[in-house]
Amino acid sequence: MKDLESMSLKVENGKLFVLDQQMLPHQEDWIESKTPEEMSKIILDLKTRGAPLIGVSAVLSLALYAEKEPHPEKIMAKAELLRSSRPTAVNLMNAIDRVLEVGQKTQWDTLEITKEAENIFEEDVELCEKMATIGSQLIKPNENVLTHCNTGGLATVGRGTALGVISKAYENQKGIHVYVDETRPLLQGGRLTTWELESLGIPYTLICDNMAGQLMSVGKIDRIFVGADRIAANGDFANKIGTYSLAVNAKFHKVPFYVVAPFTTFDKNCPNGKEIPIEQREPDEVRGVKGSFGKVVWSPKNAETYNPAFDVTPESLVSGYVLDKGLFKASELSKAFEN
Ligand code: MRU
Repeated sequence: MKDLESMSLKVENGKLFVLDQQMLPHQEDWIESKTPEEMSKIILDLKTRGAPLIGVSAVLSLALYAEKEPHPEKIMAKAELLRSSRPTAVNLMNAIDRVLEVGQKTQWDTLEITKEAENIFEEDVELCEKMATIGSQLIKPNENVLTHCNTGGLATVGRGTALGVISKAYENQKGIHVYVDETRPLLQGGRLTTWELESLGIPYTLICDNMAGQLMSVGKIDRIFVGADRIAANGDFANKIGTYSLAVNAKFHKVPFYVVAPFTTFDKNCPNGKEIPIEQREPDEVRGVKGSFGKVVWSPKNAETYNPAFDVTPESLVSGYVLDKGLFKASELSKAFEN
């Protein structure tokens, strides 16, 4: 496999490395993933995360495995393991399907499998650029934009989806300012989006998730951009828990609300949001926090919790979908994603 490099995933001399996102922003630890088993655990633990990034991480791991163990049954078993690491992000399933399809078509030629995994990496970089160019045109000079979770270079191997749009607008001298939702329970906004915005020099203000509605009520938010983990055929979409409340608030306060996603996030076989599988996670993530800052448990030790990683936002709350092919409405999605 050739060398590949991104903000949090790289291949060097045939070895695959992941930047441990659970330790950001205070520590930058690169860990090697030697097997699909290790990669599956890394994905489950959100050391690597973000829908496009986990798709790319999984197929690089699978291709490196295939190079060493070129047996179809073994490769398919590891593919199933990787696929089961996280159920909601359809990019993971789509990327694995593509690599397996190439395997089947080429009598499991490992050079071809590796080439497809490399293509998926390079394609993601291009898709991010396209979305950024299209979405950044929606932002007017000096606007305050709000975003949720982390959708930048730490969620893709390119410049990101929603955060890629925002960074492009900044590059284009729009003079923007970003409100960042902290994104409980795992703080992808507070730890990761802030880290990316600092390194890009983009002005931002970190807020607790429950402050977004108040900011909208006083007219402080001009536009909202979020990513997606799976877009159903009718436009309903799953994204980080808290996205739905934002969208409801945005509708009430008439703040334009955009979803930014590449075609790899579209699930044409899923008719609507009710059919999207939602990952439920461990209670301890809600009972406290842990990371490079230490570990705190603030609730009674065995407090009952509810911890869905994602929620579903109905298409009726979305102002527009910024895709790699252009800006679309929900009713136009199936056509937009046809090829
Ligand atoms: O649980 P995470 O951190 O993987 O969730 C990430 C998100 O919800 C992102 O918004 C989504 O993957 C799109 S980012 C390109």
